[in-house]
Parts: sequence; structure tokens; C-alpha cells
Amino acid sequence: MQVVEETRRLQERADQVRAAGRRIALVPTMGALHAGHLALVDAARAKADEVWVTIFVNPTQFGPNEDLERYPRPREADLAACRGRGVDLVFAPREPGFYAPGHQTWVQVSDLTRPLCGQGRPGHFRGVTTVVTKLFLAAKPHVAVFGEKDFQQLAVLRRMARDLNFDVEVVGAPIVREDDGVALSSRNRHLAPEARSQARVLVGSLDVAERAVREGVFRGSEILARVRAELARAPLACVEYAELCDPDSLETCPEALSGPALLALAVDFPSADGGEGARVRLIDNRVLYPHPHRQEPPR
Ligand code: PAF
Repeated sequence: MQVVEETRRLQERADQVRAAGRRIALVPTMGALHAGHLALVDAARAKADEVWVTIFVNPTQFGPNEDLERYPRPREADLAACRGRGVDLVFAPREPGFYAPGHQTWVQVSDLTRPLCGQGRPGHFRGVTTVVTKLFLAAKPHVAVFGEKDFQQLAVLRRMARDLNFDVEVVGAPIVREDDGVALSSRNRHLAPEARSQARVLVGSLDVAERAVREGVFRGSEILARVRAELARAPLACVEYAELCDPDSLETCPEALSGPALLALAVDFPSADGGEGARVRLIDNRVLYPHPHRQEPPR
């Protein structure tokens, strides 16, 4: 496995691989790799000849009061995990070297970044789309794989690739869950023990909503009322949002659901290192199919 730290070197390698007629699948990450990331690697492997992983904690997608400093950076363990999974190349630029000094160019998707996480994290998606653009230009992949846990991020990146004519297929990979159903996230390790056991309430709420739809409840307000009642069972949980929206446009669903609806949740919990304001923000989602004839969500 090759480890590359410089952008120019990565571009040269991409040119060589492309000239040899080989396809590159990219898995962009911020490191602290877990089984969810390794599932992205497997999905990438099925799509190309070479799997490349990027490891970069992107400062521009963190707000001033977010966890940039304490975001885990277990570089050696991450490299070992990639090696163990048969990754061909890891791009791990030294921070903050991936951005030129005085960087002032941004990529921004408009409407899709306003609801959900865009409300509480202004500037977050601008940082994501900018860094992913830079990664696409550096690694020149044919395919890029992202997790469906970050459903809004995936929708935004798909739209960006389409709008800017990137010749990159953006692929989503299913959420990977721990044994108790909690979606895998690099942030789970920061949860206080009691918060970790209550974090199950997110997937529990998704189950409640799915059950309601199966029972024939198609009114959005009724489904969300059941979801909020379930979330309230976790006293440490502080709900940022619980919303039903169109999986493609991310616009709020009409009261009477008639097609696929994305139930998106963001909930924060106390962190293990304590302190006022030291919270861990978890997200989760599921597409509900309120129509008796199930349809796949738009891609
Ligand atoms: O999902 C992530 O880990 C990050 O947002 C990404 C896509 C690697 C960009 O920094």
C-alpha cells in the first residue's frame, strides 16, 4: 500500500493509473476508521481496479464551537486498517498543508445545504464540498463512495458532482450499525457511558416510525409525534431535529405522505470528557415508504 502526503504526487499517480486504463474508486474520510469506513472500502472495491482512501480532518467543515481539536487522529492505526483491508493507496496530507496559505476559493451547493444539518452547522457543507472538490481534483477518481448515514452530505455531493460536471460517479453505501443498532460513527467513542447506552434511542425512533407507517399511519405530524415521544425516553438526549423530508430535494414533506420520505434525526448527548457544552452530536436516518407499493428512493 502506497502512502502519499503531497497533492502533486497524488495527481501524478492518478495520471499513471488512468493511463494504464485502470479505474480508481475513492473513499474520502477524516480517519478514525471503523467498520463503517471499511464497508465503504469494500463497496469501492466492487466498483474499480484500485481503492484509494483519503484521511484528512478537514478544518473548514468544523464550526468555531465544534470538535476539530479533539477529533481523533489515530494515523498509524488507520494506515494499518487500510493495509489490512487491501487498500491500494492512502492519501494523508499533513495538516494544514492540503489548503494553500491564504486559500479563498469555495464550492457551495445552495438549497440542499439549508435544511437539517445546514441549520445548526452554518458553513459545514461549504467546507465539505470544497474539500471533496479538492480531493476529486487531486485523486482524479472514476467513482467516490460515501456513507448513507450522512444522507444530506451524500445528496449534496451528488448534486455538486452533477452540477459541476465532475466525471465521477458518486455512490452511497448503507449504514453500518453496532450490535445494538447504533450507527457507527467516529464520534461514538466520545460518548459518556450512560449516553452511549441511551444513544440507542435514535435507531429505536426510526423503528417506531417504520412500524407506524407499516400500520398505515401516513400523516407526517403523527409519525413525528411518535418519534419525539420515543426520543423523550432518553433523558440525556437533546434533540436538534427530527424531520421528514423528500429524499431527493430534502424539502419538508407534505402532511399526507404519499411517496418515500426521509426521516432524519440529529441528537446530542453528553461527552465522556464532561464539561458544560461538551456534547456529542449523533445523526441517523431511514427512508420510509408510506405507500403500499414500495418504491426505491430517487438516486
Ligand atoms: O464524511 C466525512 O468523513 C467528511 O465529511 C468527508 C466527506 C471526508 C469530507 O471531509
